Amino acid sequence: MADIALRLEGVSRHFGAVRAVDNLSIDIPSGSFVTLLGPSGCGKSTTLSLIAGLDRLDGGRILLGDEDITLTPPNERRMAMVFQNYALYPHLTAHDNIAFGLKLQHRPAAEIRSRVSAVAEALDIAHLMKRKPGQMSGGQQQRVALGRALVKEPLVFLLDEPFSNLDAGLRSRMRTEVKHLHLRLGTTSVFVTHDQEEAMTLSDLIAVMRDGKVVQLGTSRDIYRKPRDLYVATFVGKPKMSLVDGALERSAGEVRFVSPDLRIALGSPAALGLQDGTWPKVALGVRAEDVRLRSTGSDEQPLGSFGASVQLLEPIGSDTFVELAAGDATVVARVAPDVRLEIGEAVQATLAPGRIHLFDRERGQRIIH
Ligand SMILES: Nc1ncnc2c1ncn2[C@@H]1O[C@H](COP(=O)(O)OP(=O)(O)OP(=O)(O)O)[C@@H](O)[C@H]1O
Ligand SMILES: [Mg+2]
Repeated sequence: MADIALRLEGVSRHFGAVRAVDNLSIDIPSGSFVTLLGPSGCGKSTTLSLIAGLDRLDGGRILLGDEDITLTPPNERRMAMVFQNYALYPHLTAHDNIAFGLKLQHRPAAEIRSRVSAVAEALDIAHLMKRKPGQMSGGQQQRVALGRALVKEPLVFLLDEPFSNLDAGLRSRMRTEVKHLHLRLGTTSVFVTHDQEEAMTLSDLIAVMRDGKVVQLGTSRDIYRKPRDLYVATFVGKPKMSLVDGALERSAGEVRFVSPDLRIALGSPAALGLQDGTWPKVALGVRAEDVRLRSTGSDEQPLGSFGASVQLLEPIGSDTFVELAAGDATVVARVAPDVRLEIGEAVQATLAPGRIHLFDRERGQRIIH
């Protein structure tokens, strides 16, 4: 792993009884793009403000490289922050908005000119430099806001839901642009969003947050494939992971998932990666792309298979999502758009080996490796 650029050690920030950030620790590798992902109110913005030095900690410390910056004033931290609402100066042109910080530092005029134009070039906004914010679209204003942060050549970039005011199309374009920019510049970046798709597409590492804490830190793949608990499992992924409540039955070295309406053979505990322990109730988790469908009729019952009926079809063009019912249990499967299925049709569903998820229903923890 690369050097650690930024380290939060047991950081806390409380507002009265609200533990906005609660003993949070995270290491952010140098040059990486790390996303704090979580629902509204989980403490993402507060964490970012603490990193920027815009708010004070109630406990813990923050290190930039080897240096303890817990008490360093914000303007000495060499970080640049981009906010959701851009916060551009309305009476200044795009050029002067970007140049603002450099002017404050009394940089020579020629240097300001060349740095601003380099940034404008990089963001493809050179033609907008004479316009004021009111004369630009949301996406253009957002790019100027990015430019204002970029021009400072910060050691760390902090981005707090920078695209949330943009419409869906522009949002995904800006996302791609930010990803290109990060590839080019390699500046350590901490990005905040409550949009799991945005987090998945942009990040080297995702920190899934809940109630001021990091629940899981990992690559998009880790978080998606091995969610640590039910909270992460259902927060990440679209459509949501299907969950079926039931229990595990073991006999003759085989594990079976059983619920009132389902019996699914899952193979040996070792092949399944089942942890040691007993759980009175479990939840079986299934992602739509891990379910294969075929017509009933064959007597063969491969591992992971169960009978179900088609309850709903949702074509989205590239794929079709199929809601399956097995008694009270509902599982969503993804099939190719040309697969012909009828509502009410009986099918055999098979869960891809090695791709299922099992959680302890009571504590919510993942119980397979
Ligand atoms: N200045 C403040 N005074 C009191 N409570 C605050 C203050 N700032 C934040 N909080 C509370 O701290 C918690 C975390 O807030 P924060 O803004 O960090 O959440 P967030 O994850 O950024 O949410 P969102 O996605 O809605 O922006 C919330 O419960 C919020 O109400
Ligand atoms: Mg916020």
